[in-house]
Amino acid sequence: MAAVDNRRPVASSEPTTSASELAGRHIVLGLSGGIACYKAAELVRELVKAGATVQVVMTEAAEHFITAVTLQALSNRPVFTSQWDARDHNNMAHINLTREADAILIAPASADFIAKLIHGRADELLSLACLARPIERCPLLVAPAMNREMWAHPATQRNFAQLAADGATVLGPGSGDQACGEIGDGRMLEAAELRDALVAFFQPKLLAGKRVLVTAGPTFEPIDPVRGLTNRSSGKMGFAIARAAADAGADVTLIAGPVHLPTPRGVKRVDVTTAVEMHDATLAAAPASDVFVATAAVADWRVASVAEAKIKKAAGRAVPAFELVENPDILAAVARLAKPPFCVGFAAESNDLIVHAREKLVRKNVPLIVANLGPQTFGRDDNALTLVDASGERELPRADKLTLARQLVAEIAARLPRHG
Ligand code: CTP
Repeated sequence: MAAVDNRRPVASSEPTTSASELAGRHIVLGLSGGIACYKAAELVRELVKAGATVQVVMTEAAEHFITAVTLQALSNRPVFTSQWDARDHNNMAHINLTREADAILIAPASADFIAKLIHGRADELLSLACLARPIERCPLLVAPAMNREMWAHPATQRNFAQLAADGATVLGPGSGDQACGEIGDGRMLEAAELRDALVAFFQPKLLAGKRVLVTAGPTFEPIDPVRGLTNRSSGKMGFAIARAAADAGADVTLIAGPVHLPTPRGVKRVDVTTAVEMHDATLAAAPASDVFVATAAVADWRVASVAEAKIKKAAGRAVPAFELVENPDILAAVARLAKPPFCVGFAAESNDLIVHAREKLVRKNVPLIVANLGPQTFGRDDNALTLVDASGERELPRADKLTLARQLVAEIAARLPRHG
């Protein structure tokens, strides 16, 4: 634990992303007409950067908003715009397009295009391809994009509900400023959000139906109104675990100390500052949880009495001395519950990793400790982990934190009781 005046947790504006999460995936990206077509260019880039191959199909309306040239350049593939396109030898683009595809993503999905899809109409290439896709192995995802009144209209709501009932996954919409100047629901999700949603869609649902509680980041223990005790934890590992658990189908609550990280999609976040606040929020949620992952770097001590006013220097005045009291051990408290969730602790050490991890396994009475070398991970995007449990040790070699989080989620899922 480090005492600091003005040091802030290592910040990151970037969500943790693994470079090759869509490697080997072939995505048909369909654009229907709407101003959100401008975001499709960025979306193609994001999908390609994540390793996917992207085949763009555009409706005639979409071509009024963005050119096929732009999308061909970014996807490195000729774009399809017409059902009469004769480039395919059998002249059946509407069939061929989806036979190798892992998914069709319609982004933007206009109100009119969805109205057409739910009736099984197929009077141009994109709706034809949606109808002709092998429904069992080529899922349909749609990202609505429209004015808030159009989105709220009962006809649109009915149509999207029907589309979902037919098996499609609806991504968004987002809320906020709209191109028309109005504010409300109906914005298409941003390119990075759609990429993350697609990545999540393909994750095995290893924690479906499970409730997962995660603590993350440092805590901040005030000394006076402007100073405090904290540490260098960035929260990245905990946020990556929350995201990986949500992507694996869990219902996730993330209790976060002071960090500057975006909340992963679909995760319920509770912000706290001090160890006592984190303890109270965690103990309130723990009894209803199936899994508890304690990644937070909880400050071990707090100042016994916090000064109400800023402590001032003055000539001749002694350097202040602080009496410290120990903070509650959150992990040990959860593990002591009558029916504890499956508890996973982290051990950030500077030396003798396994010895200390094993000692924590016993002292905190938890079934799994994840050990890492603290100074080599704080604030970084990658890490190396050693899983320590009663049966032995297992290395998870150095990788980005999201990759490690997905591996850890799989390890946890494998250790959960099958029923119950
Ligand atoms: N932990 C906790 N509450 C605390 C201290 C730690 O829940 N007050 C959790 C951490 O989130 C982590 C694990 O316990 O999962 C180990 O934390 P660590 O700080 O490494 O262990 P300590 O028990 O504080 O032991 P030490 O600092 O002496 O290594």
